[in-house]
Amino acid sequence: MSEKVVAVQDAWRQGAHVDDAKYQEMYRASVSDPDGFWGEHGRRIDWMTPFTKVKDTSFAPGNVSIKWFDDGKTNVAYNCIDRHLETRGDQTAIIWEGDDPNESRHITYRELHAQVCRMANVLRNRGVSKGDRVTIYLPMIPEAAYAMLACARLGAIHSIVFGGFSPDSLAARIQGCEAKVVITADEGLRGGRKVPLKANVDAAIGRLPKDAVDHVIVVRRTGGSVAMEPGRDVYYHEAAEQVTDACPAEAVEAEHPLFILYTSGSTGQPKGVVHTTGGYLVYAAMTHEYVFDYREGDVYWCTADVGWVTGHSYIVYGPLANGATTLMFEGIPTYPTNARFWEVIDKHKVNIFYTAPTAIRSLMGAGEGPVKTTSRASLRVLGSVGEPINPEAWDWYYRVVGDSRCPIVDTWWQTETGGILITPLPGATALKPGSATRPFFGVQPVMVDAEGKEIAGPCEGNLCIKDSWPGQMRTVYGDHERFEQTYFSTYPNLYFTGDGARRDADGFYWITGRVDDVINVSGHRMGTAEVESSLVAHAKVAEAAVVGFPHNVKGQGIYAYVTLNEGEEGDEALRKELVAWVRKDIGPIASPDLIQFAPGLPKTRSGKIMRRILRKIAEDDFSTLGDTSTLADPAVVDDLIENRQNRA
Ligand code: PRX
Repeated sequence: MSEKVVAVQDAWRQGAHVDDAKYQEMYRASVSDPDGFWGEHGRRIDWMTPFTKVKDTSFAPGNVSIKWFDDGKTNVAYNCIDRHLETRGDQTAIIWEGDDPNESRHITYRELHAQVCRMANVLRNRGVSKGDRVTIYLPMIPEAAYAMLACARLGAIHSIVFGGFSPDSLAARIQGCEAKVVITADEGLRGGRKVPLKANVDAAIGRLPKDAVDHVIVVRRTGGSVAMEPGRDVYYHEAAEQVTDACPAEAVEAEHPLFILYTSGSTGQPKGVVHTTGGYLVYAAMTHEYVFDYREGDVYWCTADVGWVTGHSYIVYGPLANGATTLMFEGIPTYPTNARFWEVIDKHKVNIFYTAPTAIRSLMGAGEGPVKTTSRASLRVLGSVGEPINPEAWDWYYRVVGDSRCPIVDTWWQTETGGILITPLPGATALKPGSATRPFFGVQPVMVDAEGKEIAGPCEGNLCIKDSWPGQMRTVYGDHERFEQTYFSTYPNLYFTGDGARRDADGFYWITGRVDDVINVSGHRMGTAEVESSLVAHAKVAEAAVVGFPHNVKGQGIYAYVTLNEGEEGDEALRKELVAWVRKDIGPIASPDLIQFAPGLPKTRSGKIMRRILRKIAEDDFSTLGDTSTLADPAVVDDLIENRQNRA
């Protein structure tokens, strides 16, 4: 691993929120007196009923409970919109850049207010009120932000499902939280291609019990013709004409749920991660300001999709709570050309740019040419999220995209953490390519060994967090026991992240990747168990085991070992069929990259699949398979090696 250090440049320190001394001072205060620290910073948002309590949290086994600002009341939409109207009503809140480079719009805070109120009234007319769940299945259009904020305004709980998920995945997520209303669009548009969102919603609802969903609200995006079921489906533009653009923001308790977001884990089906109101917003807003060194007037662009947590915290809630101008991009980095990102940066004079290593790696492939046709002079800070950034990609991002002028904040966090936990701060932290560096205020990382013993100093181990921070998830929707079991049972009294890490002599953290059965494909989380259960649902498949393997662009690819039923032949046609099967079942992000037909899988005598061996073979590294003598049938390993699919 590279140990190159890039020192903080004078220009980064100038006007920055914090320098190194200030970081140290604030960090110390945040961990020695969390009540004092967060009591002060909790007031960065407006409260309808001010809180008197700050931190009330316990990671104790059997009694995990996380509450912040518990007796306060507020409203997230009020904080993201209304409170800005007096001072910045005419300022752009959202710059929307369409898939087609000729399409873009500026939406002011005043317009945002009117649009969100209208959407809230449309929902309210359909019986949505505080605590009700609303599933959002929308492309990256302004209505996605309106829908989120409209739910927040009413105290309803949104659950966004990424537009790339299949009807089956959507159905499970609608049912999981018993949403009575679904907001979708006729079709999405990405890279010039249409995505049949409304048809997917119809297919999803078709799999649910009759009358599971009362209303489907359809935003017209492409104008494509879609089936509309009378009494259930309504076009948003028609419903919006029937209501006013005034709607009060409901004061809700700090711990009232704001949203549910389904995410993959190492076992079973995706879990509904629950984030609540007060602590989440304080944390999203504060990290957005400090991590990106956000300054008044900046144009800020995060390229994520609102279907992922990054879109929630760092396209919508954090930036808007700070009164920022946030750019929302409908398209993809390679359409119409590989210069699209850089052209959008010039077009809208973007100051802060936040993207994923996988995008950088795919654009690196096209060389420096497309970048150098643009100026990018407006850029001040670059960010990275979603997976470890390899030093080559880091260097290209720094040197070619940022002209060696802009710091890169490599932000480590998770759906569960609500906001960034480990990251450099532009004016304060020296950069080491590939390291997420140091904890944010209030975050206490600890490294533990396999036995759960805390390790001090430079080391390698499993990454845990010692105490709560305001943005932490509160529970798994409808299953608090699963929450405790998943995150707090491996190492008692600690939150276990599922990631491995290294801590160097400077106390900097280097995230090495998941240590559980979760793979990170292009910055998106996939549970191996989900892909396996999809594969075994195919009539010809007897058994399947899925692992990750290093992939040049995606970071990790999906490698599936498949045992077929007696008499079935594993050939190219069946490979294609299985890939298409998983794609249709879960969505394109779950497509296996490599499938190996295996007559048998390596199992212990008690029948447990030895994934360690499968991972090694998938990595094309079978010199160190370790002890295989405990296998029920050691001979299967030779066959697996012989027929491996990933050959250098
Ligand atoms: O393994 C870590 C990786 O992504 C996981 C979280 O995925 P998800 O919940 O989908 O959230 C992604 C966006 C926050 C983590 O457990 N990860 C995320 N950011 C980084 C990272 N790994 C290394 N470096 C990062 N900066």
